[in-house]
Amino acid sequence: MTKTILSALAGQTLPVPPIWMMRQAGRYLPEYRATREKAGDFLTLCYTPELAAEVTLQPIRRYGFDAAILFADILLLPQALGADLWFVTGEGPRLSTITTAAGLAALKPADAIDETLAPVYETVRILARALPRETTLIGFAGAPWTVATYMVAGRGTPDQGPAHALKAADRATFQGLIDLLTEATVGYLSAQVAAGAEVVKLFDSWAGSLRGQDFDDFAMAPAKRIIAELKARHPGLPVIAFPREAGARYTGFARATGADCVALDNSVSAEWAAANVQKDGCVQGNLDPALLVAGGERLVSETRRVVRAFSGGPHIFNLGHGITPDADPDNVQRMIDAVRE
Ligand code: CP3
Repeated sequence: MTKTILSALAGQTLPVPPIWMMRQAGRYLPEYRATREKAGDFLTLCYTPELAAEVTLQPIRRYGFDAAILFADILLLPQALGADLWFVTGEGPRLSTITTAAGLAALKPADAIDETLAPVYETVRILARALPRETTLIGFAGAPWTVATYMVAGRGTPDQGPAHALKAADRATFQGLIDLLTEATVGYLSAQVAAGAEVVKLFDSWAGSLRGQDFDDFAMAPAKRIIAELKARHPGLPVIAFPREAGARYTGFARATGADCVALDNSVSAEWAAANVQKDGCVQGNLDPALLVAGGERLVSETRRVVRAFSGGPHIFNLGHGITPDADPDNVQRMIDAVRE
């Protein structure tokens, strides 16, 4: 039996698209909140393999999604490179900042990450054994630009201003940080695959703030290098790329980087993306996550619209971004029913 997610990633058009959801393990689920409380804090949850595997499995048990995504975070990699990382409840991540050549030089080399990240690989090994055989296991990392925006600013920022400023003021240091992250990301994802991940996804959540040549240099070039290196080490490995809010630059992204699937946010229309992005291969995403808060008839009609728009080619049903903590778990089931009806 071929897993449906792998068939779609291989370019097959299926009668019913396989489904998973960004942030499917998360605070909208009472069982997640209970395990998170047991762990004490978010990072302990990420680094305790039994608990991280448990929250990964929760949405699979509840909804039978076609893929499970490893429970971890894109900011574990900077921590493994030597940055301090902590989470402020209700606000988000905080990191020590990298703004100078000396700060960059003080980070650990790319091949030193496994010491910190070994528990993540153990989570992958547990999941590879525990998942139902029809469920695909997805590993992931942040793309270098997005991870760099957090490392330079020390936190999430609305416009990625500090990273853009460093890029303008000290291009060599900024490029050095991107190169270090590119190399470390190859090692990190490769170790996830060795542990049992069947697909990997690169989250470039802030790709939309890169313009013109910067998009080529800092969104496309690192993705292309990472994908080429991973496919050299793991022939046939499917890769999903998520250059969020790339807009017109979604066109040609798969061809330019070697990605097998492009994940779409909800700022582009499904009809536009079917004509311009899906023509090159599998697409995923696009449903507005806010619909899972609101529910109602629009949730069903918009779900059907996304399914219909992408029905002529390879498609994995997903959201345009992560499900939010205030989403109603019953609305998730309504969405799944509307996809599979
Ligand atoms: O279910 C899954 O999707 C797997 C786990 C996962 C998490 N983060 C868990 C998490 C994945 C794939 C991520 C990716 C991630 N993390 C991204 C890229 C995707 C995106 O959302 O654009 C980014 C930018 C981060 C960084 C990050 N982690 C932020 C900004 C925050 C705080 C904001 C928030 O949503 O709370 C986190 C925390 C985080 N990562 C939570 C979860 C479930 C919430 C933590 C909690 O339980 O308190």
